Amino acid sequence: MKPEKARISNVPQMQQLINSFAGKGEMLARSLSEIYENIRDYFVVRQGERVIACVALHVNWSDLAEIKSLVVTEESQRQGVGVQLVEACLKEAKELGIPTIFCLTYKPAFFEKCGFSQVDKAELPHKVWGECYRCPKFPNCDEVALIYHLEVGA
Ligand SMILES: CC(C)(COP(=O)(O)OP(=O)(O)OC[C@H]1O[C@@H](n2cnc3c(N)ncnc32)[C@H](O)[C@@H]1OP(=O)(O)O)[C@@H](O)C(=O)NCCC(=O)NCCS
Repeated sequence: MKPEKARISNVPQMQQLINSFAGKGEMLARSLSEIYENIRDYFVVRQGERVIACVALHVNWSDLAEIKSLVVTEESQRQGVGVQLVEACLKEAKELGIPTIFCLTYKPAFFEKCGFSQVDKAELPHKVWGECYRCPKFPNCDEVALIYHLEVGA
């Protein structure tokens, strides 16, 4: 069980997984078309043909990327899968040469365990708020922003 790039055939299961937690208010829901269009952003962890976890690394700008849609099925939580997915994103960001990774989350303690630090949301560039208008909580966002700095070459 390790993170791998998502396949197009994984998308319906990924959407179900994301939207099951979105239904509980823990993350933003995703449409099938959004996931298909951004499929290259996603890593999944599979057990056989079953998707038990996924995450997306979305590039925002030359020096900034976001970790989104991180989710692990309830029965596979607390076994290190979430950390592995975050590490896969950080590795890819480093390979791409992107020095700052951020996330907006209701689980800041988990991301702090992964080495992220809390920042004031106002410190994030306006460009990152592109999809917030779709959030039912907009503009009263109660998510916490965290960032991670990577050493990248020129
Ligand atoms: C948050 C989530 C992705 C964590 O995944 P996970 O696979 O359970 O996490 P891991 O097993 O890799 O945990 C790594 C460490 O973080 C800790 N941790 C996990 N979830 C945590 C949480 N909600 N709060 C605080 N610490 C947490 C673990 O105890 C572990 O610490 P340890 O190494 O000291 O034992 C998972 O709980 C989840 O999918 N939740 C529902 C969806 C969600 O909220 N996603 C985040 C949206 S951004």
